[in-house]
Amino acid sequence: MSSPLALAVLISGNGSNLQAIIDAIEAGSLNADIRLVLANEADAFGLTRAARHGIATRVIDHRNYPSREAFDAALLACLQPLEPDYIVLAGFMRILGGDFVGAFAGRILNIHPSLLPAYKGLDTYRRALQGGESHHGVSIHLVTAELDDGPVLLQGSYPIEPGDDADDLQRKGHRLEHRMYPTLLQWLGEGRLSIDANQVSHDGKPLTAPLRLDP
Ligand code: GRF
Repeated sequence: MSSPLALAVLISGNGSNLQAIIDAIEAGSLNADIRLVLANEADAFGLTRAARHGIATRVIDHRNYPSREAFDAALLACLQPLEPDYIVLAGFMRILGGDFVGAFAGRILNIHPSLLPAYKGLDTYRRALQGGESHHGVSIHLVTAELDDGPVLLQGSYPIEPGDDADDLQRKGHRLEHRMYPTLLQWLGEGRLSIDANQVSHDGKPLTAPLRLDP
């Protein structure tokens, strides 16, 4: 068996995606090691989830830094010595600057609750409802210095049904999300998916469209 994929997971809140990754590791379906869970909010529930599973945690509160650059530098100083293969953003509500992204180029992943490039930014469920969409979904993409930009690796979609409200979409989205990160990370660990300088290959061929999660 190849060595476990080394991960650092960055969160700001609940951490249900973190939990899904932890559960997949414990179930043996994901060969990975979470070296650190880092939060910018001291009361992020995901920190409790991590501690319950014996995973190291750290809080770096952005409010304690005079600028985004200074905050990013603190994140870098914390994360670089851990030598993570991937930085996994799982509900991390801060935008990372160019220096941070450059230091981990092609190794930062984010999960976003829309079918990118549609509905970048916040409040995607309400905006999709207002937009009269028939479907909504979830994307995992590589992080670049632009918000919710960068190559999309994996998407999953679900129908918007009559009467659905934003909570219904969030529920459907989370169900998908919780399968998506464990699946994608395992593909990266197995080398089925590989990333080189933001160029993504799948089974040895350039990825020309996002992979889809089977319903
Ligand atoms: C998820 O919906 C994710 O798509 C978005 O933030 C939310 C995090 O949820 N980026 P959780 O903290 O993993 O429960």
